[in-house]
Amino acid sequence: MPKIVYVEHNGTRHEVEVAAGTSVMEGAVKNLIPGIDADCGGACACATCHVFVDPEWLDKTGERSEMETSMLEFAESVQSNSRLSCQIAVSNALDGLVVRLPRSQH
Ligand code: FES
Repeated sequence: MPKIVYVEHNGTRHEVEVAAGTSVMEGAVKNLIPGIDADCGGACACATCHVFVDPEWLDKTGERSEMETSMLEFAESVQSNSRLSCQIAVSNALDGLVVRLPRSQH
């Protein structure tokens, strides 16, 4: 199973296995990683699953969709590497992916 590394805003690192075909958000929620609220359950409708993709992984995680870009307008401290983690599908190609969590989702 691909391993995903979630780094909380305070630097706490969580390295967990996440099944391919699920989302980076689901991996966080299933593993009880604090810092991803995911209020809408993955429908790209809340922007509370905001993460910063480690720059070296940006090519592999792909581009934001238009809907994702418009939802990100509701998130705090958006950067060029901001993504909604419910919109990143885990695959073997993302084994080792590092995402950093914002200070807060609201
Ligand atoms: S969980 Fe709501 S936008 Fe990702």
